[in-house]
Amino acid sequence: MTTQPPTQPPTQPPTQLPTPASAQPPSDGSPVGLEVEVDVGAVAHGGHCVARHEGRVLFVRHALPGERVVARVTEGAPRDSYWRADAVQVLRASDDRVTPPCPWAGPGLCGGCDWQHARVEAQRGLKAAVITEQLERLGGVDVAAVLGRPLEVEAVDGDGVDVEAGLRWRTRVQYAAGPGGRLGLREHRSHRVVEVDDCRIAAPRAAEVDPRATAWPGAESVEVVAPQPGEDRLLVVTPRRSDAGSGGTRRLRLPTPPEASSLAVVGDEGLTRVRGRTWVVQEVALPRGSRSFRVTGSGFWQVHPGAAAALAQAVVSFAQLQPGERVADLYSGAGLLTAALAAEVGEDGVVVSVEGDARAVADARRNLRDLPHVRVQAGRVDRALAAMAADGETTDVVVLDPPRVGARRGVLERVVALRPRTVVHVACDPAALARDVAVLGELGYRLEGLRAFDLFPQTHHVEAVARLVRG
Ligand SMILES: C[S@@+](CC[C@H](N)C(=O)[O-])C[C@H]1O[C@@H](n2cnc3c(N)ncnc32)[C@H](O)[C@@H]1O
Repeated sequence: MTTQPPTQPPTQPPTQLPTPASAQPPSDGSPVGLEVEVDVGAVAHGGHCVARHEGRVLFVRHALPGERVVARVTEGAPRDSYWRADAVQVLRASDDRVTPPCPWAGPGLCGGCDWQHARVEAQRGLKAAVITEQLERLGGVDVAAVLGRPLEVEAVDGDGVDVEAGLRWRTRVQYAAGPGGRLGLREHRSHRVVEVDDCRIAAPRAAEVDPRATAWPGAESVEVVAPQPGEDRLLVVTPRRSDAGSGGTRRLRLPTPPEASSLAVVGDEGLTRVRGRTWVVQEVALPRGSRSFRVTGSGFWQVHPGAAAALAQAVVSFAQLQPGERVADLYSGAGLLTAALAAEVGEDGVVVSVEGDARAVADARRNLRDLPHVRVQAGRVDRALAAMAADGETTDVVVLDPPRVGARRGVLERVVALRPRTVVHVACDPAALARDVAVLGELGYRLEGLRAFDLFPQTHHVEAVARLVRG
């Protein structure tokens, strides 16, 4: 099912959102559709704020702390302890409220951005509050006491990014394909595809591809990867599940891709080249000089153009490595942080780089082949750590950059078995970071440093780098 674009994009300011159609609960007993006036409280993890209605918690999107809004329930059952809701009318607006720069942001429209209705600086304040709250509640850490000041989320610059406006930063945009292969972006917590004309957070070279210009029959999604200047962009098509598998890619009806675009298809057979290259090149200014990285297909790479350099710098400064030391880089992707760490320890040192995805391992081996003191190990992190411990290996520092769920106890116990003096944790989810910090606390490591970066403006996502030391 698709949501048709409005003939006129909804440009009215949010304080004039459509008047609720009905304030009555639906007759079937479900609260969905019920509209209630609430005072909006604190921000919560996930891109919404907390409000209460008759003792029940409402997680309200499109609202800001301190506002009074009409909230329309979008999810929940009568006995649930909390319901989800959208602010559909603002009765008392926050000073931080702005007209969303994207006409596709708002209740029932594109679900990609959570905070388009807040000043970008205020968004960073909300993210700092979420990280601080999660670390206090789940991690048992008083962040302001550790830092000696409240946490600040840092703005990040990058090619083509309008930092003030928080727009044009996303170098990888994954469009979902709706019926007939028409591309768009999904509504929040829904399979509905909203056919946007332009994603305002897409980087300029990704935004050159108009998602409405071409249909992709048989596709589940099409990811547009913006390239370095002078290179072709890459389009990676994932076939619909029913069409994947043997011969599935042949059943796709691929249109002619836009100008200056390579094209590849991901299927059970792996990544198939259709036109041009199956990878992009990423040039990064690392603390000790620039390096190029090859990243294949839709393999992991930070999407903000300033992210790789900012994170490498933060990790290196937190690791405080000396020449000749040993360091493990866990969940190492195409080798970005491994390369930065290798420059710190020099050829008398050792970097063990562990990555589970076969394509990323191949990229890393290629990207790091001039560094004889780097060992790229393919496989699961828990197994690699167990093997290292069995061989009696120790390490001075461990850097880990796990996926959204975090590293979790099983991995962290094995990390600690290597007796590192410092653990540097890179996290894209504040709750997962907080849980990992709590486990590391039990295992004898305390939080000593924390930085956070606004690598995903307009959304609730935020990246944090934590330094934990033994003792
Ligand atoms: C957040 S990315 C970090 C990549 C890299 N550090 C960077 O900055 O580009 C997480 C990486 O962990 C890998 N991964 C996820 N689970 C893993 C596991 N259990 N063992 C090994 N690698 C894993 C993914 O393939 C992905 O490349």
